[in-house]
Amino acid sequence: MQVTISDAIKYIGVDDRDIDLFESQYVVPDGVTYNSYLILDEKTALMDTVDTRGMEEWEQKLKDALNGRNLDFLVISHLEPDHAGSIGRLLELYPDVVIVGNAKTFNMLPQFFNVALDDRSIEVREGDTLSLGTHTLHFYMAPMVHWPEVMVTYESSEKILFSADGFGKFGAMDAEDDEGWACEARRYYFNIVGRYGTSVQALLKKAAGLDIAMICPLHGPILKEDLGYYIGLYDTWSSYKPENSGVLIAYASIHGNTAKAAKKLGEMLREKGVEKVVVSDLAREDMAEVIEDAFRYDRMILAAASYDGGVFPCMQDFLHHLQSKAYQKRTVGILENGSWGPTAGRTMKAILESMKNVSIVEPLVTIKSTLKEENMADLEALADAIVDAGV
Ligand code: FEO
Repeated sequence: MQVTISDAIKYIGVDDRDIDLFESQYVVPDGVTYNSYLILDEKTALMDTVDTRGMEEWEQKLKDALNGRNLDFLVISHLEPDHAGSIGRLLELYPDVVIVGNAKTFNMLPQFFNVALDDRSIEVREGDTLSLGTHTLHFYMAPMVHWPEVMVTYESSEKILFSADGFGKFGAMDAEDDEGWACEARRYYFNIVGRYGTSVQALLKKAAGLDIAMICPLHGPILKEDLGYYIGLYDTWSSYKPENSGVLIAYASIHGNTAKAAKKLGEMLREKGVEKVVVSDLAREDMAEVIEDAFRYDRMILAAASYDGGVFPCMQDFLHHLQSKAYQKRTVGILENGSWGPTAGRTMKAILESMKNVSIVEPLVTIKSTLKEENMADLEALADAIVDAGV
């Protein structure tokens, strides 16, 4: 797919539609892009390379775009191999290229590549600039907007922000986006960058001082219009505020009985007027999608079977993910199932209590093996407490 930036700035990124799991953990049914950009001015500058999985196609695009010219600079925004993987090949192709990075970039670079930089590097700091002719690059550090060495670059003549992983999205360039940009961008954000909300907030504050006409991320589409919408969503996500009013019911059921209770709770909530209720099976659905929903909505109910003196493993795994992604500022209800000595409830509660500003509503509902008439009053009480906690 042809992607146009401007006369002087060429998109030379690639689609990866064959990857089974991005970062060996995320399903990407519509693939993913590795974005790379070439600026042609008196000097030429490459903004990041691509994963080695797309290296051949990218190399050809780079040569075509350079059209016989030499490459003067490589700017490294991020050293993770999905972007920096082809640096080794680039150095073979253009042995005189000058690498632009920050102190952390150059500390980490030898861990990935055996390169003797000699005088072929420029170490930049916050606010430093590099003139290419009519284009000027301004560098801003964005530590932990995924990795510690991340920096973003603002090109002031065309008002373009090269935003590294920020504003990235799963999906190839030509992926059909029936649910809009936010759906796969949100799943990407919370699973990959979610832990680092404070760092993203710091970057947004820097970006607020720039006049930005276009955002060029390292994954997904180039953002050219209505930038306030995307920046607004990033502000919501990175401040851990719920994006929508609604309830996620995430269940971990061994033989289907806990699932029945979870679905019954879902029905009750809908009957009580909750407009958005999402019921998810942690054993079978994409965990990354459920994590996305946990952050998206203001309330969550966990329903799980007891197991080995704790909680059924897919719920343990889910809670571990939420913990590591800094889940916070939400209201949560708990339902446990146990055929003898139920342990799921206290296990889930203890994990939730380790998180920041998570309110656990009463009652903690216990069912024994199957949902029965005698459980209905407790279920109603939990549903009412969750309704009352709505914003
Ligand atoms: Fe897309 Fe953190 O690399």
